[in-house]
Amino acid sequence: MPLTLRGVSHRYGPGMPWVVRGIDLDIGDGELVALMGPSGSGKTTLLSILGLLTHPAEGAVLLDGEPVRQRTAAKRRTTEFAWVFQTANALLRRTALENASLQLLARGAARQSAHAVAAAELERVGVGHLAARPARLLSGGELQRVCIARALAAAPRWILADEPTGQLDHATTLEVSAALMAGRPIGTGVIIATHDPEVAHRCGRVIRLVDGAVVAGGGA
Ligand SMILES: Nc1ncnc2c1ncn2[C@@H]1O[C@H](COP(=O)(O)OP(=O)(O)O)[C@@H](O)[C@H]1O
Ligand SMILES: [Mg+2]
Repeated sequence: MPLTLRGVSHRYGPGMPWVVRGIDLDIGDGELVALMGPSGSGKTTLLSILGLLTHPAEGAVLLDGEPVRQRTAAKRRTTEFAWVFQTANALLRRTALENASLQLLARGAARQSAHAVAAAELERVGVGHLAARPARLLSGGELQRVCIARALAAAPRWILADEPTGQLDHATTLEVSAALMAGRPIGTGVIIATHDPEVAHRCGRVIRLVDGAVVAGGGA
């Protein structure tokens, strides 16, 4: 399977409580997965393990059947994944277009081609007309779309979105989540932590976490 967890448990230090417990999970290419669960149930920790940001205290993370080791994680995390966070993280003095280009530029793409791809993604998520505007002058929903365009432009295998609509009103939530899901390139999966049942309803699969354990939607 493309992205696999086997017996994954995590705690933030020896003697600390286990916050992710015994998780076995298989996630395919192009899958649309909602991650639901109460605050503190381990959604952010699980996303960061899936995205190779956190090395689990126990168990294995496998990409295409190969265990990911701490040494090889750094490179793969930027080629295989892109992130969208709850609070839009953007360079506020840079324009929407520059922000949407960032991950491509970080990967070594030429500026002109990165800008061309980013401009197309800004159009796709409905903020093409704001391309030249500095990020600091954008609304929360507009800025979150720029962050989504940045993730889409990178065409990663998976976009990991951690409550990306948590700060937005309901109408904007639906628009922004539609931009994320419908706009993704073929083959790009989305794993989205969300409290919004309507957002989850649009996903092919809903994984539910309680106290760090998967209680529904696990397995292959
Ligand atoms: N860096 C950290 N150090 C210690 N404990 C943490 C850290 N990050 C999260 N936790 C704890 O891990 C548990 C799960 O947190 P988290 O993964 O953020 O859950 P969720 O995203 O579902 O709210 C919580 O009890 C939280 O307090
Ligand atoms: Mg969280």
